[in-house]
Formats: sequence, C-alpha cells, structure tokens
Amino acid sequence: MTPLLKRYLETTSRRVEAVLETLLRPKAEEPAAIRRAMRYSLFAGGKRLRPSLVAAAAECCGSQASRVLKTGAALEMIHTYSLIHDDLPAMDDDDLRRGKPTNHKVFGEAVAILAGDGLLTLAFEAAAANARQCGLSGPATAELIRVIAVGAGTSGMVGGQVADLQAEKWRSRKSRGQAGRLLEYIHRHKTAALIVASLDAGVILAEGSSSRRRALRAYGEAIGLAFQIADDILDVVGDKKKLGKRGSDAKNQKLTHVSLYGLQRARTQAIALADAAHGHLRPFGPRAQMLHDLADYIVTRDR
Ligand code: IPE
Ligand code: IPE
Ligand code: MG
Ligand code: MG
Ligand code: MG
Repeated sequence: MTPLLKRYLETTSRRVEAVLETLLRPKAEEPAAIRRAMRYSLFAGGKRLRPSLVAAAAECCGSQASRVLKTGAALEMIHTYSLIHDDLPAMDDDDLRRGKPTNHKVFGEAVAILAGDGLLTLAFEAAAANARQCGLSGPATAELIRVIAVGAGTSGMVGGQVADLQAEKWRSRKSRGQAGRLLEYIHRHKTAALIVASLDAGVILAEGSSSRRRALRAYGEAIGLAFQIADDILDVVGDKKKLGKRGSDAKNQKLTHVSLYGLQRARTQAIALADAAHGHLRPFGPRAQMLHDLADYIVTRDR
C-alpha cells in the first residue's frame, strides 16, 4: 500500500467512525440491546473500504470528502449488516469476524438478525440526511437512494448471497462452464454491487456528469470482482490473525475463484481486473490517484 493511500484510509476511517458514533448514539426510547449489538460489529474494525470509495469518487468529481461522510457511513452500515447476516448459522456459520466473536455468538441469532435490519434501515436515514445537507435536488436525492437500494437488494448484494448459498456443493451438480458463469454472477452481485453503489453515490452527491458515473461504475465492477477474488484467495492462504476471520469456504464447499480455477489463475485474474480498473480512470487524470492506489491495494492486500 502506498504511504498516500495508507494516510487516506486512516483519515477516512477516523472521520467516518466519528460520524457513525453520532448516528449510533443510544436513544432513550429504543431498547439498549439493539444499539449495543449494532455498535459491536460496526466498531470492531474493518478496512472502511466502501466509505473510502464514496469519498474518493466525490473528490474525483471536484467535491470534498467531508460532504459525503454520512453516505460513506451508510454504505459501511449496509456492508456491516451483510457481514452479520453472512456469518449466521443459516448462512456461512462463522464464529469470528473482525477479530471478535461473531454478532450472533455474543447477542444470539434473533438480535443479530435485528441488528442487521437496524443497520440497513439506519443507512437509508443517513443517506437521505446527507442529501438534504448537500442541498441535492429532489430527483438527485431519489437517484442516490435508488442506487444504494439496487446495490444492496435482490438485484445486488442480496441476490448474490442467495446464489452463493445455492451454489454450495456445486461440484456434483455443475459443469465447469456452468460453474464459471454462476461464479461471475455471484461475485458481481454479492460483492461488486455494493462497491459500484459506493462509487456511484459519491459521484451523485458531487453532482458529477453521467459519463463520470459510467466510468466510475465500470471501475467499481472491475475492483469489485478483483476484491472478491482476493477474498477467496485469502480464505485459503491468508493469515487468520490479520484477517480477523477464520475462513470457511472449504468447509461449506463454496463455489469460489480458487475452488474452480485454482490459486494461480485466481491471482492472474485479479491482476487483470485491476489493470482494467486503471483503464476506466483515464478520463480523470491525476485526480484519480487515490482510486488507482486502491485498485492496486485490493489485489495485494493481506487483510
Ligand atoms: C468482507 O469484506 C466481505 C466481502 C465482501 C468479501 P471486507 O474485506 O471489506 O471486510 P471488512 O469491512 O474489512 O471487515
Ligand atoms: C460475503 O462473501 C459477501 C457479503 C455480501 C457479506 P464471503 O462469505 O466470502 O465473505 P467473508 O469471507 O465471510 O468475509
Ligand atoms: Mg458468504
Ligand atoms: Mg462468509
Ligand atoms: Mg470470503
């Protein structure tokens, strides 16, 4: 990771965490248990990649990161909800996340499910508030909310998670070609969709042009796919301590880039996707330096 990117991620994390702190302040009229469970996973660490993408995309379009932090926090809340639910016994059944026991291990399954629901809903409240603070027009605000909903919902992350579960034990049921097409669908939806939405949200808040939106969405698709391939590789070869999770793909007989193509091809494909991502940034010139660095980081990361 370049020193510039390291500083950028640290600064964004600090600022987004301050915003999350305000958003997640306990409220007298709410049961204390739900905020406790939401805060537990949210403040357990995490790379804060999605908020950093919101900020970097906005900056690329001439806006300031400080204007879009609440939407960055919104994307981080949706992402954290997806992790809480992903770890449930009915899904990947994991007991370690972000270096701590998973949400359901501490609070029980019912509260873990509701903590996810709470984070998802609060995210939309935060994004709407951010749009108002930015003085965004009504149609632009509706577009912001729509883009986040599409990225998170059944045409995005939720759809990908369903396909991911349905593809377990794929070896006995799928030809190589079928498995390849299904894998691409899973990665595009369960992971790339929310990354694309993060970038697009940044551009919308910065009132960037539709050609900028298209370019950064294409960049997001490429780094999103690369990100999940890297995640699949780390599940096999990663240092569990650094990752803060144990890795359960083999146990669950998941269809992953590594289980289908092997480690070597997975690495080559991730690098090819990062190269494609760089290409999509060409129209932005030096303004996109942080996004270039992020694309490289995504394929070389060890956590
Ligand atoms: C893990 O996401 C789940 C995937 C989408 C692959 P991250 O690797 O961004 O997890 P945190 O936020 O840093 O914990
Ligand atoms: C999950 O993919 C992606 C999500 C939408 C949460 P994984 O199941 O591979 O994520 P990890 O490895 O548990 O973080
Ligand atoms: Mg999963
Ligand atoms: Mg998982
Ligand atoms: Mg994984």
